[in-house]
Amino acid sequence: MERKLEIKHKQIYKETPNDYYYSPGRVNLLGEHTDYSGGYCLPITINLGIYASVSLREDKDIYVYSDDFKDMGIVKVNKTSIYHKNKSYINYIKGVISILNQHGYQIDTGLNITLMSTLPKSSGLSSSAALEVLFFKILNHQDKLKLKKTDIVQLSKKVENDYIGVSSGIMDQFSIAYGKKDKAILLDTDLLTYEYIPIDLKKYTIVLMNTNKARNLVDSEYNKRFKSIEKAKDFFNQPLGKIGYKTLLSKKDLLDDLLWKRFKHVVSENERTLRAKKAIQDNNYQLFGQLMNESHQSLKDDFNVSCDELDYLVEESIKRGAIGARMTGAGFGGTMLAIYQTKSIPSFKNLESEYFNKFNFKLDIYIAAGEDGAKHLGGNKS
Ligand code: GLA
Repeated sequence: MERKLEIKHKQIYKETPNDYYYSPGRVNLLGEHTDYSGGYCLPITINLGIYASVSLREDKDIYVYSDDFKDMGIVKVNKTSIYHKNKSYINYIKGVISILNQHGYQIDTGLNITLMSTLPKSSGLSSSAALEVLFFKILNHQDKLKLKKTDIVQLSKKVENDYIGVSSGIMDQFSIAYGKKDKAILLDTDLLTYEYIPIDLKKYTIVLMNTNKARNLVDSEYNKRFKSIEKAKDFFNQPLGKIGYKTLLSKKDLLDDLLWKRFKHVVSENERTLRAKKAIQDNNYQLFGQLMNESHQSLKDDFNVSCDELDYLVEESIKRGAIGARMTGAGFGGTMLAIYQTKSIPSFKNLESEYFNKFNFKLDIYIAAGEDGAKHLGGNKS
């Protein structure tokens, strides 16, 4: 990829890049919609991600070209913080600069930047957090800001919450900044303590299926879920993510049906996540798969964030021998994740055409490998 970037960069800016960077997508293995309630999640970084090449300019401007948004051409990312209505991906970059400025960091190194991506957008694999963390990495390095990983995580979350306006939790930014190849991160989103859990990605394989469904509802519905989980504060004196099932049950009569279902998902999902961690450590991938299936049911029936396309792909994956399958990410479309024994991955040929006939969307299938979190790939390659 660095070679491809170098060629593109030279073509666009007529100069050779000095530095290369990578920022991966993440797949959350378990613990969905728990990270804004102080609960647990279990994400892993993958080999689908965003790559950047960077060269220095003599002035103090930052120019960006993305191969995924060719029509937009080269965009000057002005030092103003104005949100661009139609310039989607640029908003995340402006958000990074704006949040850094707000926190007193000086960004005055002129840069020409080229982006290329293997990570599908709006797919529940966290392309937005990958882009944010990528730009924090680039600016941290080029402007010598001395940000630590933990600063990058907190500031990226601010971009999402304060600049973009989605009340998301900390899982995506955390896993992308801290990711390690073939290791999931068991993250306590309340205390921000974490543990690396090795995943046997030789014997088992992660298959991802992108529904390609437009996710118009995702931000507004996400914010609604966030608000309902906030209500837990009125009932318990601790974060919902730290509440056990028994305590939840003791308040059942005080909760309306909808709130009960929402809380029940979060509480049961936390228990599943801790059990999944143990199952993986015990090499009991069958149990891990079963917990994934239960997670999907809970997201579908109690948290109501799944959709027909995701449910269909989960069912079909299990029919085809997956040991576990579930939606991953915020939902309402996006990606379905299934785990197979590597020796028995089926052919998905018929599934692609059946899916298209049923839903009229193309099905994209990825066999994902593990990869490190965001990193500087090194200097000039030529
Ligand atoms: C999105 C958010 C995350 C998390 C997931 C759902 O990816 O960015 O913070 O809440 O949805 O688990």
